[in-house]
Amino acid sequence: MTYLTKPLDSSYIKKNFSCGISLLDDYLHKQAKQDMKRKLTVCFVLADENHEIKGYYTLSNYTIPLDEIPENLKTKMPKSYTNLPVTLLGRLATDERFKGLGYGKLLLLDALKRSYDVSCKSIGSMAIVADPIDTAAISFYTKYGFIQLPESGKMFVAMKTIEQLFSSK
Ligand SMILES: CC(C)(COP(=O)(O)OP(=O)(O)OC[C@H]1O[C@@H](n2cnc3c(N)ncnc32)[C@H](O)[C@@H]1OP(=O)(O)O)[C@@H](O)C(=O)NCCC(=O)NCCS
Repeated sequence: MTYLTKPLDSSYIKKNFSCGISLLDDYLHKQAKQDMKRKLTVCFVLADENHEIKGYYTLSNYTIPLDEIPENLKTKMPKSYTNLPVTLLGRLATDERFKGLGYGKLLLLDALKRSYDVSCKSIGSMAIVADPIDTAAISFYTKYGFIQLPESGKMFVAMKTIEQLFSSK
C-alpha cells in the first residue's frame, strides 16, 4: 500500500502552513518535530512537489476505558480489559489555501488506512479515536462515521468498521 503522506522531516516547509486554528498551526510550526523525537506521536504530512505542506495529521498509541465505548461493542470485549488499545488521531488539518478540494478527506482516509494496516500486522488497536478541536471538527468527523464518546468528548470509530471500508474496495 502506498500512502499519500510522509512522516514530517526537515525537508518540508512548515512555516507557511495555516489552517485558521492557531493551536494546530503552532503545533506543526513548533512542536511536531519535538514530539516525534520524543516518540510521542508521528506527524504525517501531505505536501506538493516543492515540499510545501498542504495538510497533516498525527497518530499515537492510546487507551480508552472499557466503560467509555459504545454498549454494543462493550459486551463483546473481555471483562478483564479495563482499558482498550486504540489509535489516537490527535490532530488533522488542511491549509486554508487548499480547503474544500478534498484534501481533508484524503488525509482522513490515509490516517484510517495506516491505522488499520498497523492493527492487522503489528500492534493491536480496536478503534480509532479522534480529538476534535471544535464543533466544526465534530461535524467533519461525524460525516465520516465517528461517534462522540460521552465522557471525554473524543470521537470513536471501531476498527471493525474501518475493516469493512477497506475490504469492500
Ligand atoms: C476540517 C478540515 C480538515 C476539512 O478539510 P478540507 O480539505 O476543507 O475538507 P475536504 O475538502 O476534504 O472535504 C471533504 C468533505 O467534508 C466536508 N466537510 C469539510 N469540512 C467539514 C465540516 N467542518 N463539517 C462537515 N463536513 C465538512 C466537505 O463538504 C466535503 O464533503 P463532500 O465530499 O460531501 O463534498 C479543514 O477545514 C481544517 O483543517 N479545519 C481546521 C482544523 C480542524 O478542524 N481539524 C479537524 C480535526 S481537529
